Amino acid sequence: MKLGVNIDHIAVLREARKVADPDPLDALSICKRAGADQITIHLREDRRHMQDIDAKNIITLSTLPVNLECAIEASMIDIACNLHPHRVTLVPEKREEVTTEGGLAVTGEQPRLKEAIKRLQAQEIEVSLFIDPTLETVKASLELGVEWIEFHTGKYANIYAMLYSNLSKTHHKIPELELSRKILKKMLDNELHNLRLLSCDAQGFGLKVAAGHGLNMQNVEDIVKIESIEELNIGQSIIARSIFVGLNQAIVDMKEKLIR
Ligand code: PXP
Repeated sequence: MKLGVNIDHIAVLREARKVADPDPLDALSICKRAGADQITIHLREDRRHMQDIDAKNIITLSTLPVNLECAIEASMIDIACNLHPHRVTLVPEKREEVTTEGGLAVTGEQPRLKEAIKRLQAQEIEVSLFIDPTLETVKASLELGVEWIEFHTGKYANIYAMLYSNLSKTHHKIPELELSRKILKKMLDNELHNLRLLSCDAQGFGLKVAAGHGLNMQNVEDIVKIESIEELNIGQSIIARSIFVGLNQAIVDMKEKLIR
């Protein structure tokens, strides 16, 4: 299974001080050596982490394919067409959110999406849509003629965290908690089942399937078992682990988890 390493969080750390270090550009050779298959970056409209110069340098200098995430705004599509990354993943953006909290409203945004996709594909840039895992969004993506979809795994990751947090492992048996654990386990199984079925459907329709958001060394294991998912894009947990084990080791370890 392929691994796209999202390096935005290196720029988050730099922007916290508005200094020059750490420079996400320095991550490129480490990602490559550690076995990453792709570099993923998100140029947000508010430029809270990656800056235009980062995107330009990374896309120009990376020897791995670059997956540029951006909003459907015409000005962002202009930038994407100019920078010409290997792939553009269109994502929803809300200024007030901490991170990309859900998938694109594919059915509600059809005209703007069509225009953006047409412009990107005219430049021979692969297009992916970051969507919530529903049959409706998969079918709408298919109709829009994109090459890739990326399932937002945030709901799965949140349920996993609630189920396996330290609190739930307490030795004090609390009957209500046991009950809610049963409900959470069922919810987690349902979410995995949904991702498995939809990935298989999407692949059957001829779409390439990626997934990402909130994945880490623990919760990734069941996602890796879904054969129809070809690629995962993982950022926060890899960069967080890299503080303690180094970026190279954090990627090597994640890559090992992705072996089927
Ligand atoms: N895929 C997409 C489309 C994203 O926008 C992001 C970042 O929100 C990720 C993957 C990586 O998510 P995370 O940083 O939680 O691993």
